[in-house]
Amino acid sequence: MNKLFLSLISPVCLAAGLSACQTGPTQPEPTPSATVVISTPTPLTPEQNNQNNQATQPSNPTTPTPEPDVSASLPPLPTGLPGIVDGYRGWFRLNAEPLPPRADAPHGSGIKHVYVNQALSDLQLNGQPRYPYPTGTVIVKEGLHSQGHLELIAVMQKIAGADPEHGDWVFEEYTRSATDVPFRRAFSGSICWDCHNRARDTDWAFTPIP
Ligand code: HEC
Repeated sequence: MNKLFLSLISPVCLAAGLSACQTGPTQPEPTPSATVVISTPTPLTPEQNNQNNQATQPSNPTTPTPEPDVSASLPPLPTGLPGIVDGYRGWFRLNAEPLPPRADAPHGSGIKHVYVNQALSDLQLNGQPRYPYPTGTVIVKEGLHSQGHLELIAVMQKIAGADPEHGDWVFEEYTRSATDVPFRRAFSGSICWDCHNRARDTDWAFTPIP
């Protein structure tokens, strides 16, 4: 079990450029062949990047709004991230306290937060957590670098019929090595659900609904 865990976790740590993961006493050294595989993330096409950039444009900044517009105060979506996560910092945050960095953390070397694009009332029934999540749910985990900047975005998107064996979740993880380079998709699919399998009772998501 422990061996399986390490074999799953180490590529993710590598992709996120995690000093904690790479220098931790329990982490194996990467083999050259593993590095070759891992260092070839799928770049977004120029079209996808354009879509992302368009998604970050404010719709009409001069229109007066009767209520405070939360999205107006959100930072623009960094280049390379998918449009589905745009504005995630205005979503409901599942974790009450920041998730602290851990030596064995699967992603992110600094603190992490988990956001979901649903209102809490839509995730509960009679004040209790309601699973599974509704179709259309997007859960975003942001991982901050130990110096505070955003370095990782892990996404679970619930699409009806997309993958019934894995809760119809589409798993994707995006990382960047510095703030002046675009995010790139580092991992997706089996490497994610092999571990998230442990959270099946809460619809494949570890961070519980309050
Ligand atoms: C080694 C185990 C492991 C692997 C592999 C893993 N995760 Fe996670 N993931 C976790 C844990 C544990 C959490 C709970 C938050 C935390 O402690 O970081 C989490 C949290 C998340 C969350 C927030 C929702 C939740 O479950 O709490 C998303 C989204 C996510 N992971 C996406 C991914 C994606 C995408 C991949 C693959 C690229 C992936 N994860 C691979 C263990 C893993």
